[in-house]
Amino acid sequence: MAKNIDWANLGFGYMKTDYRYVSNFKDGKWDEGTITTDENIIMNECACVLQYAQTCFEGMKAYRTVDGKVVTFRPDMNAKRMADTCKYLEMAVFPEDRFVEAVVETVRKNIDYVPPYGSGASLYIRPYMFGSNPVMGVKPASEFQFRVFTSPVGPYFKGGAKPITLRVPDFDRAAPHGTGHIKAGLNYAMSLHAIVDAHNQGYNENMYLDSATRTKVEETGGANIIFVTKDNTVVTPKSSTILPSITRRSLMYVAEHYLGLKVEEREIPFSEVKDFAECALCGTAAVLSPVGKVVDHGNEILFPSGMEKMGEVTKKLYDTLTGIQMGRIEAPEGWIVQIA
Ligand code: PLP
Ligand code: COI
Repeated sequence: MAKNIDWANLGFGYMKTDYRYVSNFKDGKWDEGTITTDENIIMNECACVLQYAQTCFEGMKAYRTVDGKVVTFRPDMNAKRMADTCKYLEMAVFPEDRFVEAVVETVRKNIDYVPPYGSGASLYIRPYMFGSNPVMGVKPASEFQFRVFTSPVGPYFKGGAKPITLRVPDFDRAAPHGTGHIKAGLNYAMSLHAIVDAHNQGYNENMYLDSATRTKVEETGGANIIFVTKDNTVVTPKSSTILPSITRRSLMYVAEHYLGLKVEEREIPFSEVKDFAECALCGTAAVLSPVGKVVDHGNEILFPSGMEKMGEVTKKLYDTLTGIQMGRIEAPEGWIVQIA
């Protein structure tokens, strides 16, 4: 039976659910994995994750569809991205098929926490991994723990579809040839000061520029960015230092193949931002959050779509993507995995 939760008023936060998945890597292999009710982790004081931040994660969602099924969206892509991340961080790779199975099993066990269709909420899924054995010299761990937990969530930005304001920070998120393209916990550690500073100054998020030249648009702390030109082309930054967002790649496909729009993935000079008609953040948590304004050191860019509602093309993209996720619109082959 569905839990008694005020689904419509959920924010994006952690709520303990009943079950989580855990598997350990030791002596060169993964154990068979299990579901546990224990949300706490006990580890050695010198665990690699605690001293040298060897940790990574993924973010996904489970949705209740219009016909009452429970589904998740492109989990194979998250499995692949986590494998890429782990290789880059010198961590053991959790097999991609087992990743998907663990996600499905964890959601099934917590099925009563999947918000009802139409509530605006979803069940966020957080797979993650960390180096768990003690290491003192700077080197990777040899033992790892992979876990998956879930939490019902509402919109990432308060107010849902209300446009937000970004500022161009004096901080960098990712270095050339660094870790910007993988989902390492350390990228988020890097962004904590910048996000607190942005909030203190009244902005919702940071629009990071490329750190080498500070001239090109990259992404925000937790989402990729799309723009719409005045002649309705959907444009997104191409960069080797941003996270390859699954939502963004899906939206570009939707724009081209469902909406018949022109799409471009290319470098975007910040100087071009003032010429766009619409802007939005995209990601699992953010879904597609409209951006009304970008502030660059006092210089304000207000998009023609304004601060009251989503731009027209953004709205079409949002409706189509969420329509696919909630089962109202037929999905491309392989995008939707049924859990229950
Ligand atoms: N960029 C960053 C830095 C993120 O943390 C996320 C969230 O996962 C995204 C982009 C969006 O990626 P996805 O659409 O795969 O959730
Ligand atoms: C997500 O969209 O899943 C993210 O990981 C973004 C943020 C919550 C870190």
